[in-house]
Amino acid sequence: MTMTRLRFMALAASLSLGVALAAGGLPQSAAAAADRAVKIGLILPITGPFASTGAEELAGVKQYMADHGKTVAGRTIELVVKDDTGSPNETKRIAQELVTSGGVNVLMGFGLTPLAFATAPIATQAKVPMVVTAAATSSVTEKSPYIVRTSFVTPQGAYTMGDWAAKNGMKSAVTLVTDYAPGIEEQDWFVKAFETGGGKVVEQLKVPLKNPDFAPFLQRVADDKPDAVFVFVPAGVGAQFMKQFRERGLDKSGIRLIGTGDIVDDQFLNSMGDVALGVVTARDYTAAHDSEINRKFVKAFEAANDGMRPNFMAVGGYDGMALVYHALEKTKGDASGPKLIEAMKGLSWESPRGPISIDPKTRDIVQNIYINKVEKKDGQLYSVTMDTVKAVKDPAKAAK
Ligand code: PHB
Repeated sequence: MTMTRLRFMALAASLSLGVALAAGGLPQSAAAAADRAVKIGLILPITGPFASTGAEELAGVKQYMADHGKTVAGRTIELVVKDDTGSPNETKRIAQELVTSGGVNVLMGFGLTPLAFATAPIATQAKVPMVVTAAATSSVTEKSPYIVRTSFVTPQGAYTMGDWAAKNGMKSAVTLVTDYAPGIEEQDWFVKAFETGGGKVVEQLKVPLKNPDFAPFLQRVADDKPDAVFVFVPAGVGAQFMKQFRERGLDKSGIRLIGTGDIVDDQFLNSMGDVALGVVTARDYTAAHDSEINRKFVKAFEAANDGMRPNFMAVGGYDGMALVYHALEKTKGDASGPKLIEAMKGLSWESPRGPISIDPKTRDIVQNIYINKVEKKDGQLYSVTMDTVKAVKDPAKAAK
């Protein structure tokens, strides 16, 4: 018997089994549902200026599936990956297509805040959970009752850093941030914490999102001579910033470079060179995080991705998948939007970044924020944790 004929017979047998089950008491829809895959539409900037975020996120999602299998609560997980190139119009168009003709049960990804903002109304209208694994502006989760976040919230890091800087001998600072929602929010929350702690912010600089040239802004910093410069640039832009910081001689100026983890993005940290040594940042994840589960994660991730080091975007993707798996376990495989979103609220688990949970009221992530300092370990640059602030909720929502 040929292989083709064997396959045909197996297919015929499985088809008739489905019919028999449906005819034998089980409602037809339940029999069909048991067969149906849970479809996850993952929308990321795979190409374009933020492609590094897409690469990390996709690898994180795939790593979770490699570690935990492709079946959960009796349902197969099917991933549909789409490239939005980082353009909000594209993200929106793709999301619309995925929830209508694509039949996805979950939307996931969103590499930048404007991309999440553009998609939120679609999640609400379609009643499809939208798992934000990157975009970090506080208000993202308020744009739809169907949004849940597994990345981080910009005020978590910015507030923690401002507080730490004021308590650790820095009296004056300049802020230098990318001029869009998460950057402005980082600036505001850093200033709030730093000045509450007795520090003084002497200048607030904003750099364009598109094709940034840091040189004129770095000149201002050099002229101001503050104790510290607090910097935010989105993931993928850190290496370019560091290059200009060194070229302008700011690494020799005595001005401390501090920020959130975006400027020492683990994907590029090693290529930045010694200019990064001593930089202090606040963030939920560093590849050097000291836990058994993280050591296993980093090893498997690097092996699967030609040595690429996981950064905070990778764990956002990894935990986005963890969230869907845990929620499906809770609903016993029911992937209807309203049931799934309810199941996601209040979940908690151990991530490669440490213990995390989803605040049932805000649907936002609660997690440790680590104060890290770049050091050399075995000839490689790593952000090594000096201090931990436990179970940090989004300070912006707590203030409302
Ligand atoms: C954002 O657009 O929300 C965003 C992107 C990259 C980051 C941080 C925030 O590293």
